[in-house]
Amino acid sequence: MSNSVFQTTPLYSANLYATEDIVVNQGGTYSSKTYTINQVLFSLAISEPNRIITIVGESIPNLKKGAMRDFETFIGLNGLEGFFQSQNKTERVYKTHSNSTIEFTSYVTAQDAHSGKRDYLFINEAPGISWAIAEQLINRTNIRAFIDYNPSIPFWAHERLLATKQFGNKKVKLIISDHRHNPFLTQDQHDHIEKRAAEDPEWGRVYGRGLTGKIEGLIFRNWSHCDEIPKEAELIANSLDFGFTNDPTACITVYRMDGELYIDERLYSTGLTNDKIADALKPALTGVTICDSAEPKSIAELRNFGMYVEPAIKGPDSVKNSIDSLKRYKMHITRSSVNVIKEMNSYKWKVDKVTGNAVNEPVDFMNHAIDALRYVALNKLKPYPSGKYVIV
Ligand SMILES: Nc1ncnc2c1ncn2[C@@H]1O[C@H](COP(=O)(O)OP(=O)(O)O)[C@@H](O)[C@H]1O
Ligand SMILES: [Mg+2]
Repeated sequence: MSNSVFQTTPLYSANLYATEDIVVNQGGTYSSKTYTINQVLFSLAISEPNRIITIVGESIPNLKKGAMRDFETFIGLNGLEGFFQSQNKTERVYKTHSNSTIEFTSYVTAQDAHSGKRDYLFINEAPGISWAIAEQLINRTNIRAFIDYNPSIPFWAHERLLATKQFGNKKVKLIISDHRHNPFLTQDQHDHIEKRAAEDPEWGRVYGRGLTGKIEGLIFRNWSHCDEIPKEAELIANSLDFGFTNDPTACITVYRMDGELYIDERLYSTGLTNDKIADALKPALTGVTICDSAEPKSIAELRNFGMYVEPAIKGPDSVKNSIDSLKRYKMHITRSSVNVIKEMNSYKWKVDKVTGNAVNEPVDFMNHAIDALRYVALNKLKPYPSGKYVIV
């Protein structure tokens, strides 16, 4: 049907025209997930005859102040009452002239979810529903299931649906959205979310950007993005980790202001010989560049090419110690430092296979820019900085 009678966000066509069996709407706060899925279900209900559509929430009160209120607001504001032959608000059942049924309901046990079948399903705020119930409901859905949630912790959608994008022979689509996809918010609402996200990066990840929070075992959480290195920030050092074929050569510059660190990515590339590294970095860098001391020959070559370099001072426990000192600072990483950010989001402690507990040693993977950052800690930062610092 034409959607000219009501206005939509980009999530509308992403959901309405999905061909997969399960459509997962993961997103930040106010990204228009719930409102949009309601609109999609309304469109399906009035354009396809005899459909049964079930909208499920954690509890009836929850539905009443969430998805069902949104649905009624949407119908009311757009004058769409004429599409219904009946609206039973106490039973929470709406029937269209095309003889489709939209029902809002909740289930207490998986046994309850065994009864009834439907064409379309919407599980609103999915972490509130157990997998036992969700599985029954999805299995008893003929055409398509939609789910929505804010991803504050991984839950069954991640393990059962997203890990392989497949559940039995059902295909899964993931749509990640955030408030920037919702043009119906006021500038104040957008600003409020961004302000809070800047103050609390963990909150910002989940509710500002719709990314899954509390990734188990992540080593660094004490950082956030910044647009640029502040003019007043003082240069501490550049730092370089050598790579070649598979591993990239990574170079960063670290600054300090008000007792906090500012980090900027300068180089992140494979296949660079030492002359190429010097060509790229010598004109770009000021001050000293700390280098991985495991490659004295490379350090000597860079020095011969005219770079001002010094080896990282690694001692016993230097990995652990440098991580500890970095954790005591609040860190800011420029948004353009995409590889540094990627590494930060995947740098984890190793897990003991027997106990399942994290051990005091990082997984040695995707840690090139982070190794460079650790060299700065080893050579230039005191383990207990004075002034402003954070302990995480
Ligand atoms: N298509 C739309 N038209 C008008 N307002 C919308 C639309 N989509 C979302 N909104 C507004 O944005 C608010 C937030 O959307 P909502 O679906 O509740 O976000 P989410 O479920 O992603 O947290 C809604 O309460 C509504 O006021
Ligand atoms: Mg919602």
